[in-house]
Amino acid sequence: MAFRITKAVIPAAGLGTRFLPATKAMPKEMLPVVDKPAIQYVVEEAVAAGLNDVLMITGRNKNALENHFDRMTELEATLEEKGDLDRLEKVEYSNDLADMHYVRQGDPRGLGHAVLRARMHVGREPFAVLLGDDLIDERDVLLSRMIEEQNNRNASVIALMEVDPSMTHMYGIATVEMTGTPDVVKITGLVEKPATGTSPSNYAIIGRYVLQPDVFDVLEHTEPGKGGEIQLTDALQSMAQNNIAGGVYGVVFRGRRYDTGDRLDYIKAIVQLAVERPDLGPELKPWLKQFSANLD
Ligand code: G1P
Repeated sequence: MAFRITKAVIPAAGLGTRFLPATKAMPKEMLPVVDKPAIQYVVEEAVAAGLNDVLMITGRNKNALENHFDRMTELEATLEEKGDLDRLEKVEYSNDLADMHYVRQGDPRGLGHAVLRARMHVGREPFAVLLGDDLIDERDVLLSRMIEEQNNRNASVIALMEVDPSMTHMYGIATVEMTGTPDVVKITGLVEKPATGTSPSNYAIIGRYVLQPDVFDVLEHTEPGKGGEIQLTDALQSMAQNNIAGGVYGVVFRGRRYDTGDRLDYIKAIVQLAVERPDLGPELKPWLKQFSANLD
């Protein structure tokens, strides 16, 4: 039976150690990408794909996340008094963007453990998982394509991207077989962050998943893997190998993806997105050209 998928799960309990000290008292998901917190891009992407019910898996220090998706009465009143309606609109936009829910992870024991915390909220329906470190350009289609394939195949679907072989150690990597559909592959195996030189392919998992609820039963029995953490990749490997709930398929994404997971990629993401903004790009572009011409 095909379900209309409505629920998105966004793990946001990581400690953000790569961005210390910025993330000492603030969640890394609130770091601005140009002028919006990274997490807002992700919630907007979920909503654009029809997922209005968003469950965030949070941890300590994450109050700013809840506040961002709620009213900020004093600020709104001040902007209204000043007649600054443009900024007021920006502030209010995230208030009612989605139907937001929160659950805490407690002990952060890995991505698989975070997803397992969504079990009560999700129930017995397929659902999406979106990781905040990966931003997908809103002009390129990914999540709705994955939802479509989840419906067609009644299986779990993950997003894949071909990466340079030197980068495979940073991702979950899939072994795949072609299907009759050009952008869809069948997953025959998955391995989390293989050591350099041992990767079975260059198909990397990027942080979008549309999963059968059976993943919760599998996660419950998944032993800690890479880094001593309960890995979502390991649970999906078991589902692929044992053909659980229809097995696992991959949608191969060839669009624009921005990584905000570490400092260098974060800086690149900001520059890439700012260059394309009509309010910033026209001034930033010539400045960037001049700046880079003077670099040695
Ligand atoms: C997680 C997943 C990994 C995936 C990656 C995508 O790793 O465990 O399989 O390839 O997200 O961004 P993380 O980057 O959170 O360590």
